[in-house]
Amino acid sequence: MHQKRLAIFASGRGSNALNIIDYFKDHPVAHIAFVLSNRTDAPVLDLADAKNVPTVAMNNEEVADGKLLAAYCLKEKIDYIILAGYLRKIPVELIAAFPGRILNIHPSLLPKFGGKGMYGAHVHTAVLTSGEHESGITIHRVDEEFDRGEILAQYRCDVSPEDTIETLQEKIQYLEHRYFPEVIAKTIAS
Ligand code: GRF
Repeated sequence: MHQKRLAIFASGRGSNALNIIDYFKDHPVAHIAFVLSNRTDAPVLDLADAKNVPTVAMNNEEVADGKLLAAYCLKEKIDYIILAGYLRKIPVELIAAFPGRILNIHPSLLPKFGGKGMYGAHVHTAVLTSGEHESGITIHRVDEEFDRGEILAQYRCDVSPEDTIETLQEKIQYLEHRYFPEVIAKTIAS
């Protein structure tokens, strides 16, 4: 089986993107072809540069152009697209070009606390406000709706009344960094 080529899409800090880059360094199953962001000033771009991973900075019009994105990823012979803190909707043309081969991580136990606008601290605030006793992460294939698509894995953490957005975010981030690369490796090898 040939080594799969992965593109990582990220919009922000990129801690998951970096974690994935480190995990797949010199890895037989996959190679990180580039990190793409919809923000030219996204910290993830500098961090990827520092790890000698090619970066692609587009603006919001370009990333909304599904034909452009699909053509670029096909030209780069991408096998899977990994969304790691990517805050733009994936154009249908890109989903059509990579059916079942766009993976996303969401910081809650979907279908709870998902959908438009549910990202970052908004998710943790909603979980804490709801009085839930647990939260966690969901890794899923991407389809046309925000945070829908086949769920590949979920990992849980407890939520206590003493938890704050920061403490919950820390628990979630631990799960993301511990499991996302592993689930990616298993999914692309299957
Ligand atoms: C993570 O919470 C992830 O679940 C969500 O966006 C956040 C990205 O964080 N998709 P980072 O930029 O990777 O640190």
